[in-house]
Amino acid sequence: MFVKSLSVRNFRNHTYKDLEFSPGLNLISGVNASGKTNIVEAIYYLSLARSFRGVDDEDIIYRSSEYAEIDSLVVEGSLKRKIHIIITKKGRSVLVNGKKVSKLSDLTKCVNVLLFEPKDVLLFRGTPKERRNFLDINLSKQFPIYLEYISRYEKALRQRNELLKSGNYDQKLLDTTTELLVKYSGPIIKYRAMYVKDINDILIKITRALTGVKEKIEIHYRPFVSDDADFNKVALEAYNRALESDLKHKATSIGIHREDISVSLNGKDIGTFGSQGENRLVALALKISPYFMVKDEDKKPVIVLDDVMSELDEEHQARLIKFLKNFSQVFITGTELNIDGATHIQLNKA
Ligand SMILES: Nc1ncnc2c1ncn2[C@@H]1O[C@H](COP(=O)(O)OP(=O)(O)OP(=O)(O)O)[C@@H](O)[C@H]1O
Ligand SMILES: [Mg+2]
Repeated sequence: MFVKSLSVRNFRNHTYKDLEFSPGLNLISGVNASGKTNIVEAIYYLSLARSFRGVDDEDIIYRSSEYAEIDSLVVEGSLKRKIHIIITKKGRSVLVNGKKVSKLSDLTKCVNVLLFEPKDVLLFRGTPKERRNFLDINLSKQFPIYLEYISRYEKALRQRNELLKSGNYDQKLLDTTTELLVKYSGPIIKYRAMYVKDINDILIKITRALTGVKEKIEIHYRPFVSDDADFNKVALEAYNRALESDLKHKATSIGIHREDISVSLNGKDIGTFGSQGENRLVALALKISPYFMVKDEDKKPVIVLDDVMSELDEEHQARLIKFLKNFSQVFITGTELNIDGATHIQLNKA
């Protein structure tokens, strides 16, 4: 798929901007604070109806305006979709071809965006939450039932934590919520394990293309209880063993909400041992890997790479560009960009 046009109104620093893009490489350049990240934020907003910067909608609206607006035409094979989003301080509304969309999974079907942002360099050095988010977002996009499991799990987890906090809980109720956690954990772990296994082969190929070196790269996922025939029984026992400590800390200390993934390069953990450049390339490889899981050419995700070139030496930049030329549509932002054959969008500081 590709984003053909994007108009933003009162979106961040852009009071009005009308942009045309093309399939293949699109470069968005301009000096610092000219609004490059803001444009790719709007493109990402099309896919999840939220910002990737973890901010309130209110922060997105230009200064003291009433609302922000995004209009876009997205092409998927012979299908054309007009997406219209209005963001107010009180909420947002999303229309696809004039019809209101309320389920996130319906929007993700229309626009799929994979993002690499500067803070992803710290993906393997930061908290497990970022890495779980990567798994959860991509699995939810591919398998809506996974999002369902996660939502139900989180609801049960909140209930269990409330009970633990209350200090005066009903044992039967606690057992019921624990059983619910176990029930949803089973399929969640299955999906995570399958996904990580699939991604492993893709990751090897991408890293080789980006580095040119045959390094041994491996992604690891260890579920909190291994996924076998006895899963329910073993998981319940694990919760029972942890109960005393959970009561003391007033929170559920084990479960899929605490799991993590890691990546090793030549047998060593990339977060601990990898250089800044290696962390950048492997994080980039991981963030774009879901592209290769989508088999239908028309549905291939749009790739957004915010400030990906900085800190990469010339050879790695050239390799990356060569690699990116094969994708359906890619947006790259940077202060100084020049790539033959790419569509060039220049932003000026207001
Ligand atoms: N709600 C808002 N209203 C008005 N201006 C805003 C709003 N939110 C952010 N800005 C401004 O938008 C400007 C551009 O931000 P953006 O992050 O897109 O720049 P950039 O071109 O990506 O810069 P850099 O090269 O440093 O990454 C900033 O100066 C910021 O203060
Ligand atoms: Mg920026």
